[in-house]
Amino acid sequence: MLGLKLLTDPRWANIAESNLGEILTDHAWCEQKAASNAIMLITQNPEYEDLVHELTAIAIEEMQHFQMVIDIIKERGYTLGRERKDDYVGRLLKFAKKDGSRNQAFIDRLLFAAMIEARSCERFRVLSKNIKDENLGKFYYDLMVSEANHYTTFLNFAKKYTVDVDVDKRWQEWLDFEGDLIQSYGTKEYIHG
Ligand SMILES: [Fe+2]
Ligand SMILES: [Fe+2]
Repeated sequence: MLGLKLLTDPRWANIAESNLGEILTDHAWCEQKAASNAIMLITQNPEYEDLVHELTAIAIEEMQHFQMVIDIIKERGYTLGRERKDDYVGRLLKFAKKDGSRNQAFIDRLLFAAMIEARSCERFRVLSKNIKDENLGKFYYDLMVSEANHYTTFLNFAKKYTVDVDVDKRWQEWLDFEGDLIQSYGTKEYIHG
């Protein structure tokens, strides 16, 4: 799925469902961070008109997702907790190139975003297929579709705006790195846990 090297064990969905308040809080902040990341890319790369336009739409959509999640939290009698540390995303960020050319750092930042979208999409798919709560299952199915589109947008911009990066080759390196990394996850009630 989306080139991912390792798929999540469906039992992770049961762990998530058994601690819904916790996964919803973590999920809400994932959406906020996705919006912030899109805004950061806009701020640092204003010269790419189509990127500014499409990432503005993504930032808005991610905040709409945030709003949907906090509505669910409220409906179900939970409270939004503080942001949870996302160790998985921290490890991906370390993998992103920062010391090469400006274009290399830009392209890797787009691939970093595409990678998180791809895995989030896969995790939402696992939730949609395995949780017992039908309403939440439908909710996660819709989000899965949305994040798959974001993944495509980020990857396509990387291909469009590369100057000195072989994007196909670098994307394979990302997929290999993430495939190893994700082996240590899948046991906690976090979106990337
Ligand atoms: Fe989202
Ligand atoms: Fe997204």
